[in-house]
Amino acid sequence: VAPELDLIEEIQKLKKEKNAVLLAHYYQDPAIQDIADHIGDSLKLSQIAEKTDADMIVFAGVYFMGETAKILSPNKKVVIPDLNAGCSLVDSCPPAEFRKFLEQYPNHTVVTYINSTAEIKAMSDIVCTSSNAKAIIESIPEDQPIIVAPDKNLGNYLKNETGRDLVIWEGACTVHEVFSMEKIQKLKETHPEAKVLVHPECEKVVQMMADFIGSTGKILAYARESEAKEFIVVTEAGILHQMQKDMPEKTFIPGPSFAENTCSCSECAFMKMNTLEKLYLCMKYERPEVHIAPEMREKALAPIQRMLEISK
Ligand code: 13P
Ligand code: SF4
Repeated sequence: VAPELDLIEEIQKLKKEKNAVLLAHYYQDPAIQDIADHIGDSLKLSQIAEKTDADMIVFAGVYFMGETAKILSPNKKVVIPDLNAGCSLVDSCPPAEFRKFLEQYPNHTVVTYINSTAEIKAMSDIVCTSSNAKAIIESIPEDQPIIVAPDKNLGNYLKNETGRDLVIWEGACTVHEVFSMEKIQKLKETHPEAKVLVHPECEKVVQMMADFIGSTGKILAYARESEAKEFIVVTEAGILHQMQKDMPEKTFIPGPSFAENTCSCSECAFMKMNTLEKLYLCMKYERPEVHIAPEMREKALAPIQRMLEISK
């Protein structure tokens, strides 16, 4: 890319020229969030991907998000800045092992987090995100046994919230598992008025520190509505950009991680693989493109549609 090129201007031009919609997750680099047409959590972005009348969906997020967009809008071109932007939670649930796991629990309803491959979704009855997981579990009859996968922390949170006896796959997100309960406790001593906002992918001991537990979108909404002036935000640090932008009068402190010598917050290396330069190139050359085999798409679509139906 020529150094004199104004990437932001070029991306704006490409959006118009190609009738493209740019979707960005809250964990994206601030510069990407600032030029996106829509910023959101997994649920909101998939709802937009399903309804858009753009010709091309540019998904600044991680692979499973682009894949879900393609499943929902198969006739649109879906491009992502970096094909290698994966997700540790997705990797914690390999399809062959999951298939064997399911065989041990026949007649269970399989509720799968959106952070999973299309193959895992295709083996599921209904998909969920952090913002609708509780409602999805509650939509299933009381006497029906349920499997929740792949995130064990979200699974245990749901067990607690709904009182249901869930069978849980033991996967986790490496970004959300590094927050330190002790360090949050210390921070609370110096900021006693601060509200602790926690993503359900965090460990149970960290969830126990929370004033509020929810998806990125719900964390943002809680901070907007709260009278509090200070917040300790225990999720990927990218969301702080949007929080600070929306609420300049409030203070947001990134949740501290175990790591002593690195930045005290937690960043998702996969989300941060996307850069303005890669975004520009993917829009210009319309690749890398997300593809999915039609039979797999069909099988993965039904559980996603069930989720969207309940989340209207
Ligand atoms: P949200 O749906 O809360 O945005 O979560 C997505 C994610 O990847 C969390 O790590
Ligand atoms: Fe996956 Fe965790 Fe990154 Fe979210 S923060 S995309 S769950 S690795």
